[in-house]
Amino acid sequence: MNIGVPHEVMIGEARVALTPMACQTLVDAGHKVYVQRDAGTDSGYADAEYSEIGTNLVDDAEQLYQAASLIVKVKQPLESDLRYLRDDHILFSYLHLAADIELIHKMSDIGLTAIPFESVSDEHGAYPLLAPMSQVAGRIAAIRGASLLFRNRGGRGVLLGGIDGAVDGQVVVIGAGVAGSHAAAAAAELGAQVDVLDLKQDKLDALKRQYPAISTHISSAELIEELCLQADLVVGAVLVAGRRAPVILKQSVISRMNPGSVIVDISIDQGGCVEGIRTTTSEELCYVDSGVILSAVPNMPAAVARTSSQALSSAILPYVVELAGCSAEALANFPEHCEEKVQALYRARALYRGELVDEVLQQEVDSASSQSTG
Ligand SMILES: NC(=O)c1ccc[n+]([C@@H]2O[C@H](COP(=O)([O-])OP(=O)(O)OC[C@H]3O[C@@H](n4cnc5c(N)ncnc54)[C@H](O)[C@@H]3O)[C@@H](O)[C@H]2O)c1
Repeated sequence: MNIGVPHEVMIGEARVALTPMACQTLVDAGHKVYVQRDAGTDSGYADAEYSEIGTNLVDDAEQLYQAASLIVKVKQPLESDLRYLRDDHILFSYLHLAADIELIHKMSDIGLTAIPFESVSDEHGAYPLLAPMSQVAGRIAAIRGASLLFRNRGGRGVLLGGIDGAVDGQVVVIGAGVAGSHAAAAAAELGAQVDVLDLKQDKLDALKRQYPAISTHISSAELIEELCLQADLVVGAVLVAGRRAPVILKQSVISRMNPGSVIVDISIDQGGCVEGIRTTTSEELCYVDSGVILSAVPNMPAAVARTSSQALSSAILPYVVELAGCSAEALANFPEHCEEKVQALYRARALYRGELVDEVLQQEVDSASSQSTG
């Protein structure tokens, strides 16, 4: 299989999907790997590290997409990628399509096959390709929130905790999954008083077992309002797999929050869980609305590109190996006799040769089109 690793083009994106070490595995397995020049530079991987192990360096995106049939990248394709994608391409990357219905239509028109990283689930119902980046984003949310609370960043001048004679910072985390747990753990380690809300008791119990000092609660609109009105930092980290994020923090609450308090919406890649929130970038991290600082960067892990590239590359490599090795039929009909990872890739397909095959996504498309016509 000819595998292509493009240079990422999203603002602030610095990750590379496959490190040289991961490419080595693919080259050793007999695949041709094409890497766009500078794809790994911002993660600290020089072109020479790729060429030394027998990958083919190509100068630009056009050559990369032309040479490869399996495209492995970090973030969803933008216009500069879309123009080179073809109907025989298999695209394997984060896509977050429930938040970008237009992209579904564009990829469907091209006729390609798309498998979102975030849709690949394992036999335990976990999402092994989303988890490492959620861990990173959770940790960053606490650190970023803590620094935006500094007075010189416009915050309310609160240090999250651990100071004798001063009140600890109050942190509210909505969602006790992978991102939320890591945000809560990092905030607790900084000394803050942390409250975590989720709809699932088992998620809250697991977190409480690990961090007894964290307060956990079954989520309700009333409790979110009560806790957020006292909070210094609120982190949104909810997910309903495959769907647009539910709006759980309302404008009517935000407008009454403490001036200079901070909201970090990790769920922005799925459309955001904070009412009316706008996407921000690594260059313009936040904005102020009703005196509250809001940050909603859809590629937070890019801030620590080297760590994130290593974690992402190790997580996806076993799936890239299977994808590169499996026959075209394995993605056409359920591959009953193939190993679990190939079946997981089949189940994760969003588009197959231009046809939208993810039923949950189809419902999201239908609901978006009924809202626009209604
Ligand atoms: N911005 C970024 O750079 C970035 C990076 C990684 C992950 N993410 C996003 O972070 C989000 C969380 O990912 P995750 O891996 O932690 O997911 P997860 O499935 O592990 O956790 C999500 C949690 O949200 C809870 N939840 C769902 N609806 C809820 C509601 N109405 N109220 C309270 N809790 C609710 C679920 O029960 C679950 O425990 C996803 O949208 C993911 O795409 C963003």
